[in-house]
Amino acid sequence: MHLDEKIWLTLSFGLIIGFMLITGYQAYAFGMGPPSHKETIDPQKVDETAPFDNPGVRKIGENEYEVVMTLQIFSFTPADIEIPEGATVHFILTSKDVVHGFQIADTNVNAMVMPGHVQKITQKFDKPGSYLVLCNEYCGAGHQVMSTTITVN
Ligand code: CUA
Repeated sequence: MHLDEKIWLTLSFGLIIGFMLITGYQAYAFGMGPPSHKETIDPQKVDETAPFDNPGVRKIGENEYEVVMTLQIFSFTPADIEIPEGATVHFILTSKDVVHGFQIADTNVNAMVMPGHVQKITQKFDKPGSYLVLCNEYCGAGHQVMSTTITVN
């Protein structure tokens, strides 16, 4: 084998290894699979699993709140929450039974909340008022009455 052949072979082999390393690094750095909605929970044990063992509204920063909420036929827990004007709210949601919807009127918030999955949504409430929260996924006989409010004041 000529020396230039050896050099050429070494270079192309090195290139392949290089690509493999880059791809491997990306998989490691950014994670494999879909980037969102990966968090799961045992839907039978929602009441015992943090943070859903303690649903409610918590202040986590300067006019920043975390709302841990469970959806179940045919209600939202906690219901009728109140937050200050201009607040940024991080919703952490799961369902205790079937697929529900989480839609906040007059905002872009519109999400599916599935049993076994943790849904996270952030929304800033700049305008004061009463925001209607609706379940927009058919979930049974009481689907039409499944609603609550978020009061911003
Ligand atoms: Cu819950 Cu429809």
